[in-house]
Amino acid sequence: MEKIEEDDILGDELAEGLSTLLDTPEKVSQTRRFMDMLVGYRELMMMYTCALKEVKTKFEVLDTEFSVRYQRNPISSVSTRLKHTNSIMAKLDRYGYRFSLDNIEKYIHDAAGIRVICSYIDDIYGIADALLGQDDITLLTRKDYIINPKPNGYRSLHLIVEVPVYFADFKKQMKVEVQIRTIAMDFWASLEHQLKYKQNIPNQQMIVKQLKECADVISMTDQKMIGIRQQIEAVSDAPTEEEILLEKLSRMDMNIG
Ligand code: GTP
Ligand code: MG
Repeated sequence: MEKIEEDDILGDELAEGLSTLLDTPEKVSQTRRFMDMLVGYRELMMMYTCALKEVKTKFEVLDTEFSVRYQRNPISSVSTRLKHTNSIMAKLDRYGYRFSLDNIEKYIHDAAGIRVICSYIDDIYGIADALLGQDDITLLTRKDYIINPKPNGYRSLHLIVEVPVYFADFKKQMKVEVQIRTIAMDFWASLEHQLKYKQNIPNQQMIVKQLKECADVISMTDQKMIGIRQQIEAVSDAPTEEEILLEKLSRMDMNIG
């Protein structure tokens, strides 16, 4: 007896299923539009991925330059993420817009997200100013949750910027959300984010209060660390120009970046 391949059966069933599903020209064109949207969505996500690469490189360049000039890395780490499709859908829904490519571009400002973790608070502002000073970067919004922390204690500097991305035959301005915070702020935000998912905790108010207390301690620690660094910088004799030059020469063969 001739063996029938499973794929053949599946193929036949699929074809039959589709022919009953797409039994009217409207359904055919609806399906076509849906498939076009899927392809467009994937391309849009590719463009956001490229925008993340552009902005990530900008931060890496700043960190490399700083480390060679001043022998200190202001950036501890940089991470990027694309917003998940279900989160994009949920956010559009929350705002009252339907899921479309135009609406994603118009209303979702954090489809592409980049998080920069700095050593000290003053590094946050130094790095942000250096980024915003670049003539291909446009600042759309700035939220300073360091000067004005959220009531729960959350602190970070948030920027929504636009960056041009050059593709094979066109250029496109893409939005990127940049979150800049210290290692200490990130420690708090990461744990608080994890705890948010744990629902039905009996002592909710107590937990919120304790988290806020931790945020306050962390904020004081950040201030103290800057103070310590400044004290050390103040008592260390300012190196002479010759000493600086010799120090740089001694690092001549070290890997850059
Ligand atoms: P989203 O709808 O969450 O994007 O908020 P938004 O558009 O009002 O922007 P906002 O600047 O308030 O927050 C943007 C992002 O910052 C969030 O998606 C989180 O990644 C982070 N964030 C804001 N608030 C908190 C917080 O209380 N805790 C933690 N862990 N992260 C926060
Ligand atoms: Mg968000």
